[in-house]
Amino acid sequence: MKKIAFFDTKPYDQKFFDEVNQRHGFHITYYPSRLDENTAVFAQGADVVCAFVNDVISAGVIEKLKSSGVKLIALRCAGYNNVDLKAAYGSIPVVRVPAYSPHAVAEHAIALMMALNRKTHRAYDRVRDGNFSINGLLGFDMYEKKAGVIGLGKIGKCLVSILKGFGMEVMVYDKIRDEAFAKENNIRYVDLDTLYAQSDIISLNCPLTPETNHMINAGSIAKMRKGVMIINTGRGKLIDTKALIDGLKAGQVGSAGLDVYEEESEYFFEDFSAAVISDDVLARLLTFPNVIVTSHQAFFTHEALINIATTTLKNVEEFFKDGYLENEICYRCEKECRKAKKMRCF
Ligand code: NAI
Repeated sequence: MKKIAFFDTKPYDQKFFDEVNQRHGFHITYYPSRLDENTAVFAQGADVVCAFVNDVISAGVIEKLKSSGVKLIALRCAGYNNVDLKAAYGSIPVVRVPAYSPHAVAEHAIALMMALNRKTHRAYDRVRDGNFSINGLLGFDMYEKKAGVIGLGKIGKCLVSILKGFGMEVMVYDKIRDEAFAKENNIRYVDLDTLYAQSDIISLNCPLTPETNHMINAGSIAKMRKGVMIINTGRGKLIDTKALIDGLKAGQVGSAGLDVYEEESEYFFEDFSAAVISDDVLARLLTFPNVIVTSHQAFFTHEALINIATTTLKNVEEFFKDGYLENEICYRCEKECRKAKKMRCF
């Protein structure tokens, strides 16, 4: 029976994986700890390591996994910026779940937008305190406003269709164009400067890469419309948070909805309600009435968790059948391998 060492386990992970694993029969050992150089030792004797967004899969960790006999790293997430693919290349294949529910993430982005716009987070507190005043809760019609979507992938496309449903004008920026989708949905591709200058709401839906790291910074914020709303469900490091805070303080940024935060691995997914938050940047963010931070929960729907468990265990099964690994990612070049439909490139 193949053994899986499962890191950063939460009760909901175990529930869904146990359910889906009834069809596979892998031996899964669940560890609450995150995977890092200190905890990699738990993988001793396992065939597969299953990891999530905040596990650190560095060269050092990969070296330890290799010497522990681990043959496969199965990410149960889409993003893989936390994996040193170069270090894994040639020795341990890395698989992921490329799409578990783009709808879940797009719908959460909308939830953040609507809450910030109509200030439902504040209204909720007010009425519970017997305050039925609506002063200060003024919103705006989404209809005919301009949205700028950065990254028109699976999530970006779901988001566009919802935004179009509001009757918004949508512009997008992506390195790769899908002209057919743009035509069909009546959206226009623009360059980043145009998107910054014209959007009332900007949503970040691209991956974190060296190119997108801190793409929202003091310079790009200065190019935006005064009072712009920024929504980030992508990755925390897409935004230079200190620059965002300066923008919020100056009123240049009107509001921000953040499901991800650049230093989130310290705090997100854990309960710190009885502790002191020592991250002053995060603490400052939490003081703004026009900022909503959620703890990387955009993916967190019933459907997405079933899909995550199903695809992850299917990836593992494929590996041991020694077949074509549909969801492998590799250092050599995603595009090259995908084009060749030959992900087992080493
Ligand atoms: P995808 O791979 O389908 O789409 C990403 C799009 O971004 C592609 O169209 C790609 O061409 C584009 N892109 C790449 N580099 C770019 C750049 N420099 N500038 C503009 N666009 C660029 O990915 P998907 O599924 O839509 O997910 C997007 C991101 O959302 C993921 O990389 C991940 O970081 C994040 N995510 C967040 C979740 C959450 O719970 N908050 C859950 C799932 C994904």
